[in-house]
Amino acid sequence: MIRFSILTISDKGSAGLREDIGGKTIEEMMRATGGLKVDYAIVPDERDIIAERLIVMCQNANLILTTGGTGCSPRDITPEATIDIIERQVPGIPEAMRAKSLEITSRAMLSRAVAGIRGQTLIINLPGSPKAVRECLAVILPVLEHAVAILTGTTGECAR
Ligand code: MTE
Repeated sequence: MIRFSILTISDKGSAGLREDIGGKTIEEMMRATGGLKVDYAIVPDERDIIAERLIVMCQNANLILTTGGTGCSPRDITPEATIDIIERQVPGIPEAMRAKSLEITSRAMLSRAVAGIRGQTLIINLPGSPKAVRECLAVILPVLEHAVAILTGTTGECAR
């Protein structure tokens, strides 16, 4: 079973000025796959705060899904904060999300999302809008269980 945590990155959301629909969308989609939510937080678009929270979340989760702050606005800093604390990147994940999303909207190329591994935790950036969350998460859902199994050493078998 995937033990997942959700980190929403939003200045407005963390100030209580906007409802976190993106985070709720992640929770619904992950619960439908049988995953267990172990943590949730919402933080402002501050590099150090994001990085520190990711480090703490890695202690309990095998998967962290972030939402928001991946774009090109001056405050968007989620990919940099993620890169600060991961040990290895998994570029195929954001590549796949962008490739599929480009079939829906050319604006998909504006997301700078990254994915990577810290210890036994896979961290994946998703965009902020609920629509984009749904579209991107749908692309990667089929591989998440296998990715976590490989990462945590519960399987070494990749062939199928
Ligand atoms: N990806 C999908 N699948 N669908 C979308 O609607 N929106 C894009 C992009 N990726 C979008 C998407 C837009 S408009 C932006 S600005 C970037 O994600 C970054 O979003 P963020 O800053 O909320 O993280």
